[in-house]
Amino acid sequence: MAEVVIVGDREEAGELAAGAIRSLITRRRDAVLGLATGSTPLPVYAALARTLREDPLDVSAVRGFALDEYVGLPAGHPESYRAVITREVVEPLGLDPSLVHVPGDGSDSIETAGEDYERAIVAAGGIDLQILGIGSTGHIGFNEPGSSFASLTRIKTLTERTRQDNARFFDSLDEVPRHCLTQGLGTILRARHLVLLAFGEGKAEAIAAAVEGPLTASQPGSAIQLHPHVTVLIDEAAASRLQNADYYRYTWENRPSWQTL
Ligand code: F6R
Repeated sequence: MAEVVIVGDREEAGELAAGAIRSLITRRRDAVLGLATGSTPLPVYAALARTLREDPLDVSAVRGFALDEYVGLPAGHPESYRAVITREVVEPLGLDPSLVHVPGDGSDSIETAGEDYERAIVAAGGIDLQILGIGSTGHIGFNEPGSSFASLTRIKTLTERTRQDNARFFDSLDEVPRHCLTQGLGTILRARHLVLLAFGEGKAEAIAAAVEGPLTASQPGSAIQLHPHVTVLIDEAAASRLQNADYYRYTWENRPSWQTL
């Protein structure tokens, strides 16, 4: 079962996730991070940047793989996930940009981009820690409802609801791409540690379905139930539909002193 930690606010979640990433990099200087975009992981990247400023750590060998990328945006668009990862992760953390990959980068054609990305992840030795957000449709990565639990990186069509959710990053809904390249649920499940974050009432249903609902492709987030090491960091609002919230609080309050995320 996932370890579910109900936190006071997103900053606290950011600190916890940043602590786990820091300790991973301390153990393994060429750690491989799986990087989500969107608003949810921003407190993680901000907390990590802060700790690296206050207490520097060698991050020159840290590698990264973005979860997904839009298809069809003009090159250099500020909302392309390549641009977002550069702005929110690579620059503030001081990572080597040549070690941080986004689906589609360096591929000769869109048809081979998925396979190329899978090969690059395998060549890196796999992802050590994968940061995840969750969409209101229940997607992780951009694996919309119906995605196979065995899926690998490929092109997907975004649902209209996801396009509307993401329209806030663009000038108009028309600008939001209809397609993306995304790590599959199978790709995500191969990462060694999944850290799923969610904040706000709008994510409560998706979190309840992911953590406690039946395992079903109709709720792609439920794929996390197949993974042996998952940490779910959520605020009270995102936890509000969980049946066993009291048990998760009890478990966290009574965690053994040796236990880390
Ligand atoms: C982003 C991603 C998506 C987002 C999800 C939530 O790389 O793969 O699954 O995590 O759409 O988005 P936010 O965090 O903006 O609510």
